[in-house]
Amino acid sequence: MTVEPLIGDVIGELLRDTLAVATGVGPRPLVGGRLPRPVIEIIERDDGLINGAPAAHYLDGPAQWQPYDHRAVDRAYGETLDIGTGAGRIALQLQERGVPVTGLDTSAGALEVSRRRGVRRLVHGTVDTHLADGARYDTFLLLGNNLGLFEGRERAPEFLAALAALARPGAQIIAQGTDPYGTRDPLHTGYHERNRRRGRHGGQLRLRLRYRELSTEWFDYLVCSADEFAGLVHGTGWRLTDVDDRDAPYYLATLRLID
Ligand SMILES: C[S@@+](CC[C@H](N)C(=O)[O-])C[C@H]1O[C@@H](n2cnc3c(N)ncnc32)[C@H](O)[C@@H]1O
Repeated sequence: MTVEPLIGDVIGELLRDTLAVATGVGPRPLVGGRLPRPVIEIIERDDGLINGAPAAHYLDGPAQWQPYDHRAVDRAYGETLDIGTGAGRIALQLQERGVPVTGLDTSAGALEVSRRRGVRRLVHGTVDTHLADGARYDTFLLLGNNLGLFEGRERAPEFLAALAALARPGAQIIAQGTDPYGTRDPLHTGYHERNRRRGRHGGQLRLRLRYRELSTEWFDYLVCSADEFAGLVHGTGWRLTDVDDRDAPYYLATLRLID
């Protein structure tokens, strides 16, 4: 008998167990005998590729961060929305610096982990649902590769319009992306080609996440070059003012609201 995975809060369950492994507090379902085992995020791509990534980095403090995370946080000012806050590693650091920050996430479990770790202002939802709350921001952060939330040609203009509606005058977006095109692995170059033939960006990934018995629905996650990203921003209410690719293939894209 083949059982399809249950659709559930994969990120929430995964982060709760990651926190339990890190702190020794709470049930650790993956413990084999007395030895804690790392929590692994399973990422399934729609061509059958399956990758596992240790989830512990979601809890990393600044000492373990990549240089571009530090540069992104240094650029944040004013009311800041950390979009897809996860376990709140970025929000916690901003809070410590006295920057007024709100963590936004679609995962109730991730928000609970962030709350337990000390993040004070948290919102459950998307940028679209958050509009009705009336809060407005100077800085929007999309870190931990969350430029991916732009998804592709269809979603990007809607996403940018929602951010413009949430923005104060002169607001900025700082989004961290990864250029996927340096690879020569035929598994990836073939995937990119197949995507382009279907009118998608080469690195427009169709993914689902798995943890234990749970799965997310399939979703698009955009991994694109800075040039492709510039194309998506063109003609919207935002201007791409800077691409910091000192840590290529990773980059930070900064956008400013057009007056
Ligand atoms: C790759 S993790 C990044 C976490 C965090 N930014 C970091 O750097 O550690 C992505 C996070 O975005 C959240 N997420 C996914 N789709 C979202 C959406 N449409 N709106 C808000 N959050 C979302 C997920 O639940 C998850 O916590």
